[in-house]
Amino acid sequence: MKKQIKIGVLISGGGSNLQAIIDACEKNEIEGQISFVGSDKPDAKGLQRAEKHHIPTFIVDFAAVLNDKNTGLPSDFILEDILEKQNFFSLQTDQDKVRRFFEKRVAAESLLLEKISAYPLDLLILAGFMRILTPYFIDRINSDSNKPRIMNIHPALLPAFPGVDGYGDTYRYGCKIGGCTVHFVDYGEDTGAIIGQKAFEISPEDTLDDVRRKGLALEWQLYPRCIRLFAENRLEIKRNKYTTKNGVQKSRTVVRIL
Ligand code: GAR
Repeated sequence: MKKQIKIGVLISGGGSNLQAIIDACEKNEIEGQISFVGSDKPDAKGLQRAEKHHIPTFIVDFAAVLNDKNTGLPSDFILEDILEKQNFFSLQTDQDKVRRFFEKRVAAESLLLEKISAYPLDLLILAGFMRILTPYFIDRINSDSNKPRIMNIHPALLPAFPGVDGYGDTYRYGCKIGGCTVHFVDYGEDTGAIIGQKAFEISPEDTLDDVRRKGLALEWQLYPRCIRLFAENRLEIKRNKYTTKNGVQKSRTVVRIL
């Protein structure tokens, strides 16, 4: 029998992507097994989908932690390390605000890591998980920095429209093409190496609901396909070097499908 990878899933909402992944695992389209589903929201509907399939669930109520003045930081929290790695805020942002932002998030993330540590894990899937993950969390999941193992699905054709409302931003811009992107998670907002993308046409008659409907239907195909590639060990990380218009040498992490 082939090795079944252990997949952890984090959600915040309805969990239709979670459902697509559960179905793909049950049909053996992915050589994998979901070991847990975690949510940052106690009322996330997707938790019921997991329970129906007898998958263990847990909640870390991020909103409660972020509002709690007394939540402690983990002993291995090093603010300077996070500030050096993070790619969310520019140097112009009020540094006190940045510090508070990361302290609060890490307090919640350390609870999340504690819950996750109870389960076997090869790949962590963000399926509509609407929280930014800090370098603190990412480094503790990606124990080998050359082998990213947190994936996210984003409702737009990245690098267009990162952030919280990809389909809304696509629709409001008047795009003729929309899409979805699966990528590895890095230290920025929706900036990690792209694994797969799918696109759909938008007609002038389409409403925002139409855009969401078309997009989600593609997400349910794309996400299981990318997870399957990971499970088959077919995703190779490589650095592509390039020179900018100003002659500066840079490099970008890309994913090669073997
Ligand atoms: C999906 O459209 C997903 O792309 C998006 O949330 C929705 C979750 O739906 N994710 C993000 O916007 C992440 N920033 P679901 O709960 O039905 O899977």
